[in-house]
Amino acid sequence: MSILKINGGRELRGRARIQGAKNSVLPILAASLLADGETVIHNCPKLSDVEAASKILKHLGCSAKRDGDAVTVNSTGLSRLDIPHGLMREMRSSVIFLGAMLARGGEATLSLPGGCELGPRPIDLHLMALRELGADITEEGGSIICRASRLRGRRVNLSFPSVGATENTMLAASLADGTTIITNAAREPEIWDLQSYLRTLGVNVSGAGTPTVTVEGTKIRADVSHSIIPDRIAAATYLAAAAVTKSEVELTGVIPKHLATVTEAIREMGCDVRSGRETLHISSDGRLRAPKPIVTEPHPGFPTDAQPQIMAAALRARGTTAFVENIFENRYRHVGELRRLGAEIKIEGRVAMVTGVEKLTGAPVTATDLRGGAALVIAALGAEGVTEISGLHHIDRGYDGLENTLRSIGADIERI
Ligand code: UD1
Repeated sequence: MSILKINGGRELRGRARIQGAKNSVLPILAASLLADGETVIHNCPKLSDVEAASKILKHLGCSAKRDGDAVTVNSTGLSRLDIPHGLMREMRSSVIFLGAMLARGGEATLSLPGGCELGPRPIDLHLMALRELGADITEEGGSIICRASRLRGRRVNLSFPSVGATENTMLAASLADGTTIITNAAREPEIWDLQSYLRTLGVNVSGAGTPTVTVEGTKIRADVSHSIIPDRIAAATYLAAAAVTKSEVELTGVIPKHLATVTEAIREMGCDVRSGRETLHISSDGRLRAPKPIVTEPHPGFPTDAQPQIMAAALRARGTTAFVENIFENRYRHVGELRRLGAEIKIEGRVAMVTGVEKLTGAPVTATDLRGGAALVIAALGAEGVTEISGLHHIDRGYDGLENTLRSIGADIERI
């Protein structure tokens, strides 16, 4: 079992390049199933979730080969249309393959995803949308079976702007007859990236970034390439890490407007954050104050995936910071571990109140989920003494070489 050993209090100084977005690469790898041929995805981060998606592609009879930051998928050999329980368990987001499998092969069987670290993860909206497009869906022995000899473009209204349901609908609609109009669609930047990739494949899709996405089904091209957008949540993580220490750090390869709510909060905490065209520059004296309440909402609101990291930054900030988590039920599991470092946090339902303390002290802690794990790393960087973090498989799902990047800008961190 590996652990991260962090000796807190070091100044961070230098440049860090931001990886490609985990939440873009997964639906885009699923979308490559639509093409009967080869597609090359560049700027693919090395993550266990990307490995899991590659395993799914191989299980389905496709090939997925990595060469540096590029993954080449060839889906000519597609020979099965199911995702077994083991692969579903490895990555709950595997549900994103549903729409693409159904569209390409007319059928898809998926072991039901069940809950995860963040609480129950229903897929009712995904299924509702696929039904609207003409799929017949049954449940049998813990699996769902979707069948559609032909998918038809329709109007699909989502009662909540679910990211995954929007993506699954876009994927299924890409090969459907006619036009699909998704209303109350998610507006996250990753939807825009999926739209760009689908356009490269020849799909006439528009509206990503607005609540209405329109997809005209078509015959798909292959032999295309695409580069994944920067990971705004990884960028938010490094900003929070820089905020808690004395620092002068430049993040490169970012799209600053994707991080507007996060940079606003970090500025309110007293840091100087400057945006360039594809850079973010942060300087901090490590003495922070509480920002206005952090209320998570669908994009363009504050991202739930950055809530734990900003909470970690608020632990030593002067004053009290209120957090309101509106997206996931179970997204305060990192709080118990942060308390082990000396944090003062009260939780009542969706609300967490963090009162800044003078100092945090290193202790052994365990990552409870991906972003909760990132929060522990940030808290440890701002703590006195040594923190040992276990449960690294969570962190490895979403960060490509987190400790190497932090060490390159001066953190005392090693994986043992
Ligand atoms: C994606 C991201 C995840 C991020 C989340 C919200 C990926 C791989 N993951 O997850 O990192 O935290 O967006 O920004 O892109 N819901 C339903 N029924 C459904 C689907 C969702 O009730 O059919 C609910 C969920 O329980 C949750 C909320 O909608 O409370 C948001 O979920 P959703 O936007 O679908 O998140 P994911 O796509 O799973």
